[in-house]
Amino acid sequence: RSCLIHGAPIETGASQRGCLMGPASLRTARLIETLASLGWAVEDRGDVQIAPQAPMAFGNPAVHNLAETHAWIAALEPVAYAAARDSDLPIFIGGDHSMSAGTVPGVARRAAEEGRPLFVLWLDAHPDLHTLESTESGNLHGTPVAYFTGQFSSEAELAAYPPLKTAVAPENMCFMGIRSVDAAERARISDLGMEVHDMRAIDETGVLVPLRAFLERVRAANGRLHVSFDVDFLEPGIAPAVGTTVPGGATFREAHLIMETLCDSGLVGSLDLVELNPFLDERGRTAKLLCDLTASLFGRRVLDRMTRSFG
Ligand code: ARG
Ligand code: MN
Ligand code: MN
Ligand code: MN
Repeated sequence: RSCLIHGAPIETGASQRGCLMGPASLRTARLIETLASLGWAVEDRGDVQIAPQAPMAFGNPAVHNLAETHAWIAALEPVAYAAARDSDLPIFIGGDHSMSAGTVPGVARRAAEEGRPLFVLWLDAHPDLHTLESTESGNLHGTPVAYFTGQFSSEAELAAYPPLKTAVAPENMCFMGIRSVDAAERARISDLGMEVHDMRAIDETGVLVPLRAFLERVRAANGRLHVSFDVDFLEPGIAPAVGTTVPGGATFREAHLIMETLCDSGLVGSLDLVELNPFLDERGRTAKLLCDLTASLFGRRVLDRMTRSFG
């Protein structure tokens, strides 16, 4: 099975700098070699780049780095489309979460071409459901889900990001790990009836009950599944290298169980690894953890990780 890897060194959507180094950090943690050792045909296509941009203004004065975001989306959509067409399970390594405004529509366009609906599992402390009008921080990593589910509506919003070629149906989203939601996002979730499993729900049922139900939904629809993994999904104590830590995230065990269950399902067709900020890491531990979690998704089993001796 084949895996194309594309880096997206984008940090202009985040609240602080450093995600630019995310792809390099994941390569240093031996992501490529790790997946190859699991029997995958891995090909690292290097990093996508954009040209320097002239500033673009927007009515909401909080919005910043709009021109860079526009350029990144325009650059990543065709790359993601081709990677989804040409390999079994491409990985887009970031880079802040605004990159998913490019990768998800690209993968969705490939799914539409196959005549299949795209489903998206959003593993994140945040739903990233702001429009350009509703964002208060103006950090554009808070906007990709609103964009690719077609929630940008004003004339100005529609002109600000590249025209959306293929939208994801809001009912095909599944959010897990959510624990920091702004008022406008909360309203949008209930208006659109999106599937959200916040940390309270996970505390009550564990991760498997909602995950299995969602995977059944994907399978029944003959869907293609994209997983978008934000580092802040994880408990900050095990994953400090992210600018937007929120206490109470997924544990090491919950995160591996999710990745192993996704692997067993055979439904995952593409993956984003986003928001890794190596400037905030401690001796590479967050990058290493992300590599290990990705290895679980790519077929490494728990027993391979443990050294056991009986009597
Ligand atoms: N909702 C907050 C905002 O819009 C936080 C967004 C965090 N997003 C992320 N991809 N880490 O500023
Ligand atoms: Mn996010
Ligand atoms: Mn987040
Ligand atoms: Mn435009």
